Amino acid sequence: MCQVLVEILPFAQETAHRAGGILMDYYGQSHQIEHKSPGDVVTEADKASERFVTQRIQEAYPDHAVLGEEFGLSSANSSYCWAIDPLDGTANYAKHFPIFAVSIALLQNGEPILGVVYEPVTNRTFSAVTGHGATLNGTPISVNSNHEISPDGLFSFSSRNMKSRLPFMQHISKGRNLGSAALHLCSVAAGYMDGSLDLGTKLWDVAAGAVILQEAGGKVTHPSGNALFPLQPNDPAYASGVVAFLATNGKIHQQCVGLIDGSS
Ligand code: IPD
Ligand code: CA
Ligand code: CA
Repeated sequence: MCQVLVEILPFAQETAHRAGGILMDYYGQSHQIEHKSPGDVVTEADKASERFVTQRIQEAYPDHAVLGEEFGLSSANSSYCWAIDPLDGTANYAKHFPIFAVSIALLQNGEPILGVVYEPVTNRTFSAVTGHGATLNGTPISVNSNHEISPDGLFSFSSRNMKSRLPFMQHISKGRNLGSAALHLCSVAAGYMDGSLDLGTKLWDVAAGAVILQEAGGKVTHPSGNALFPLQPNDPAYASGVVAFLATNGKIHQQCVGLIDGSS
């Protein structure tokens, strides 16, 4: 592993663990909930977690840019950019439904190269660095070996914007929605799920899980099959633009792309 990443991965893991601790401190209490838009809530825990993560990164790596869901992009102009979702699964969290995660990624020249997704309730840490495999709590993980969409394969969707994909969804008999895109990507990486489709996600939802999934042997692209990365410096993803994704175990990717195209 390159020296920079040897140092950065434990830093990112500890940061995610401590941010998860902040989420657990607030969890189960009555939250101040604000609506960013109809159906899109934010709690004080989202903000406290992001403040902590951003501050830690800025202290350790002052030259790096930081993009967080709640406070946007720092002004630092750097080939390195962190993409942070301080609480992925806020709608679950706000209702005391215990499925949510912290997601932290590092991109270099628009390509995610390091990802950590931490689920504090189960104390599960998914991690990866490009070229060095993916792990769950330190144990290597890999995608499953299903070669086609099968009646017993699990496949996750978000519920948002999915009406246009109904024909594709009819090929999936065991659709799931955990309410956290980062955990969907990690669930494909760990082999629990065959795939995941989300049309409303942003860079901070996707970047960490994308590295973890690719390092576990899977594939993540735009639902059209086009590459998501590298991002150009002026890509709208850095300004909260949508980064829709299709994530699979790799083997069923083309089959999914074909069916999704056919259902547009
Ligand atoms: C949301 C979750 C959800 C996905 C949405 C995201 P949030 O993130 O990841 O699964 O479908 O597009 O916005 O708001 O809980 O951080
Ligand atoms: Ca999110
Ligand atoms: Ca969030």
